[in-house]
Amino acid sequence: MIDAARRWHELQSGRGIPQEILAGAPASPWVHDPRDFAAPDEPADTPSRVSALGLLGGSGTVLDVGCGGGAAAFALVGALTAVTGVDHQPDMLEVFAEGARRRGIPYTTVEGRWPEIAAKAGHADVVVSHHVLHNVVDLPPFVAALTAAARSGVVVEMFDEHPMAWLDPLWLRFHGLRRPEPARTVDAVAVLTDMGIAPDVARWERESPPRQDAEWVTRRLCLPAERVGDVGEALAALPERPRHAATLTWRV
Ligand SMILES: C[S@@+](CC[C@H](N)C(=O)[O-])C[C@H]1O[C@@H](n2cnc3c(N)ncnc32)[C@H](O)[C@@H]1O
Repeated sequence: MIDAARRWHELQSGRGIPQEILAGAPASPWVHDPRDFAAPDEPADTPSRVSALGLLGGSGTVLDVGCGGGAAAFALVGALTAVTGVDHQPDMLEVFAEGARRRGIPYTTVEGRWPEIAAKAGHADVVVSHHVLHNVVDLPPFVAALTAAARSGVVVEMFDEHPMAWLDPLWLRFHGLRRPEPARTVDAVAVLTDMGIAPDVARWERESPPRQDAEWVTRRLCLPAERVGDVGEALAALPERPRHAATLTWRV
């Protein structure tokens, strides 16, 4: 493993939850609620959308990796001739499928982990993957499979730093756990550069932050529901959740 990939691996591994804390968790801290990822009817005109529309050049097929409810793909409605959603959470794929039907877009869903499932997903003109990189530990095979699946190009959107890093003070407060520094966009770009990919990098601010209420954060912190009040108080004392995002685009 070359240096940038090793650094990414170490930073991402450091975000794991220690086994002794995980063992005491009343519910899984990892599972996303699909309702939080439903695609908006009116997509925001973000740099990611502009880039993907540019790569599509009018119309074409899109493969959405880690699709959730399809916010990345359905932002391109009007230019989409068909869409494939890949996710390892089946309930996300249900929301994705419902979104495609409602918009009248021909669709396929593929359940499984990228890149292991890549062959089943096939190829598309444009591959999009939004807010998934920070879930990935071994980045080169993930990125290589995105590139191999695209005929025209790839658009990746990510928060500048690991999206859970804003909760680090609460891990210290509730578990005495000091978190190591989070992975950032520059770390991902370094991995791409080592792979011979020179992405265009656009930095911007997301309009609305993802869900961050006390109930959700309590589960994320592996705490029981009775601690929601304490967590709410601690959350109120934190600075606002960062919204810095980046769009990485490369042609193939
Ligand atoms: C933070 S959500 C983002 C969803 C959507 N792309 C969006 O921007 O709204 C991350 C999604 O990626 C999925 N996911 C994470 N790692 C994955 C992997 N290796 N293969 C497939 N799906 C993955 C999760 O199940 C989840 O639905």
